[in-house]
Amino acid sequence: MNAPLAERDALTHLELVLRQVRMEATGINSYEFVDADGNDLPAFTAGAHIDVHIAPGVIRQYSLCNSPEERHRYVVAVLRDEAGRGGSRGMHEALRVPNRVKVSVPRNNFPLAEGAEKIIMLAGGIGVTPLKAMVHRLEAKSVAYELHYCAKGPQYAAFEAELRNIACIGKIHCHFDGGDPKKGLNIAKLLKHPEPDTHIYYCGPAGFMQACADAAAHWPSELVHCEHFKAPAKPASPEGETPAVGYSVKLVRTGTTLTVASGENLAEALQAAGAPLETSCNSGLCGTCKVRHLGGAIDHQDFILDESERENYMTPCVSGGCGGTLVLDL
Ligand code: FES
Repeated sequence: MNAPLAERDALTHLELVLRQVRMEATGINSYEFVDADGNDLPAFTAGAHIDVHIAPGVIRQYSLCNSPEERHRYVVAVLRDEAGRGGSRGMHEALRVPNRVKVSVPRNNFPLAEGAEKIIMLAGGIGVTPLKAMVHRLEAKSVAYELHYCAKGPQYAAFEAELRNIACIGKIHCHFDGGDPKKGLNIAKLLKHPEPDTHIYYCGPAGFMQACADAAAHWPSELVHCEHFKAPAKPASPEGETPAVGYSVKLVRTGTTLTVASGENLAEALQAAGAPLETSCNSGLCGTCKVRHLGGAIDHQDFILDESERENYMTPCVSGGCGGTLVLDL
């Protein structure tokens, strides 16, 4: 039986105090959240993120960038994006010390392969945040790694000094291109030769993500990991591909069956039918709505599940059925 929403909310969310806001680079602030009574926070692993409830109905996901060894605080960093949907502006303008802020417990869609021989990390600008947590962890575990940090200039590179402090000499490589990627890191050259048991992690803006994906295309897919902080633009589907059709959804726990019309959003249909489904990013990026599927054909449209996870899970905020009956563990 699923627990009522309020009960589940208490298990999955925390109300924390914003203890510090610090300018880390041009347009980038860091935010440190702590428990009001000084208690330890739920542990997290490198690559994890939290949802921050910035204002009613405005929830955004931010990677934790402090050391996973720390239990007394969560630190996120946010680049103010004037052209964005308003989340980063809200963080920069509305959050003040010592506001109480609702955040989710940490979730990790970008876990670190700690047993790897070596880790190569590529950060584009604010994409450094999950990779900084990885640097802390890799240093603690003495795993071989290198971080290539690409930014327009040092004034835009948050945490550069801190990274150089925590990392051994020679592991942090900064590439400042003055705004012209052609003058920056040659990603294709860096990733030209796949190395045994070496994993690649990358995170950054859309053009950087594409350059990394292209450069790593010949690496075994299980060695390549990325995290998008915005849903990438999708190419238009070729005509006739994945026809939009309605379908049925059977919820095994409640015994309910509902019909989802062609073009209808599955998460919204489930919530309208009273199914206990939480959503956050509504973009297939955060994993909040991830649900186990038990049968039926699925049109996966998320950016977080790999092929093996897709065998058992789906994200109804962006994915849906392809006709017939979809069976969900709800
Ligand atoms: S709500 Fe974020 S993946 Fe569905």
